[in-house]
Amino acid sequence: MDAIRIQGGVPLHGDIVIGGAKNAALPLMAASLLTAEPLTLPNMPELADIATMSNLLRQLGVRIDQSAFAFGSDASDAGATGRVMTLTAEKITSVTAPYDLVRRMRASFFVLGPLLARQGEAIVSLPGGCAIGARGVEMHLKALEALGAKIEVTGGYVHATAPKGLTGAHITFPKVTVGGTENLLMAAALAKGDTVLENAAREPEIGNLAECLIAMGAKISGMGSGTLRITGVPRLHAGRCAVIPDRIETGTYAIASAITRGRITLRGTRFDLLEGVFSVLRQTGVTVEPTEDGVLIAAENGLVGVDVVTEPFPGFPTDMQAQWMALMSTANGASMITETIFENRFMHVPELRRFGADVNVHGASAIVRGKKKLTGAPVMATDLRASVSLVLAGLAAEGETTVNRVYHLDRGYERLEEKLGACGAIIERVSGG
Ligand code: EPZ
Repeated sequence: MDAIRIQGGVPLHGDIVIGGAKNAALPLMAASLLTAEPLTLPNMPELADIATMSNLLRQLGVRIDQSAFAFGSDASDAGATGRVMTLTAEKITSVTAPYDLVRRMRASFFVLGPLLARQGEAIVSLPGGCAIGARGVEMHLKALEALGAKIEVTGGYVHATAPKGLTGAHITFPKVTVGGTENLLMAAALAKGDTVLENAAREPEIGNLAECLIAMGAKISGMGSGTLRITGVPRLHAGRCAVIPDRIETGTYAIASAITRGRITLRGTRFDLLEGVFSVLRQTGVTVEPTEDGVLIAAENGLVGVDVVTEPFPGFPTDMQAQWMALMSTANGASMITETIFENRFMHVPELRRFGADVNVHGASAIVRGKKKLTGAPVMATDLRASVSLVLAGLAAEGETTVNRVYHLDRGYERLEEKLGACGAIIERVSGG
């Protein structure tokens, strides 16, 4: 299994181009199941999770065509530089998402809503727990039942049926769920009549999905608010929608600049996607300046510790919590990090301690006391964001760091070593580590 080896302590300087957002791209790809006509998605990132979703969709009958590095041809694609993916679900040949794929990537569960809405039936494996928490799906299932679906769970599979189609309903999510909101948006787009989703997630990825569905002919309003209104239409048609820039990749490289006391311009991204993180980053003493196509992050001086609490958007994202902890391990003074979204998302703590970080966990909060220096170490991670927090600590630490289980990083960070290496990081991938 590959590993990443880093010689740390080098301030990073340069430009990094941000790719399309993994967590926006995955539901957009699933939306292709809603129509027999082609769905074209510019700015598609090249990641292991995108390949997994492509495999699943192909098994369901979707044809996928890709062209490399094409530039967008209309205003909505401005700044889009990644691959263009076209997905055509002319005929759905299977309604089953098997355990083997859903187990590997929870986002496979996104096919449930579209399959049910278009085919009247979906058989999707339950994802099971994962490294960061139990991550149930009962809110997805209850909301689909409210649209008239019959749901049975047997043998580890959700068997959902709606032979006469789905019907609009008023749904209030008991808790904000990003995936639940996305599954319901897709299902309600083809339901009869009106659906209202209250306490809906407001993450930018939801806005991207709504924008895509609208381009396909859906009627949706309320984007950016906690109440989404969908008026179902009998069918959707071909559409084109660029994947938004990855706000978590943006935030991760912003911290790479800050933690090495460097100066990096992040390009092809949007300041407004990450205002919550930029605002606390400024409080630490880091310079954060919006630029024409992104943001400049500079941190020549020492930083001070700042507390954060993870919350649904527009609050501080849980997907930036591990990276923030790495940064706070190098700041002056203490900071408290409270995780409210997932119950088990501090698994990076014992690994950060291997760099000499001083972190104590008390329930859902961690107290971090900043250290003057971290020292490199061999480490191993359990999930995507935990892995990248160890890369960040390794960039700041003196000496050599080896991050094992690199496959986690490949799920969500495109050409990580290349992007960091271009800013002066001494970083390489070693095979079989
Ligand atoms: C999405 O996961 C993201 N994944 C996650 O990104 C992200 O951490 C999370 O939203 C929160 O922002 C994708 O977009 C593919 P939720 P999702 O439903 O949709 C509980 C990354 O590193 N819950 O908003 O699964 C759940 O257990 C990742 O890129 C239920 O209890 O998150 C969690 O505690 C990891 N029952 C909370 O709600 C349900 O039916 C929020 O989950 C649904 C959710």
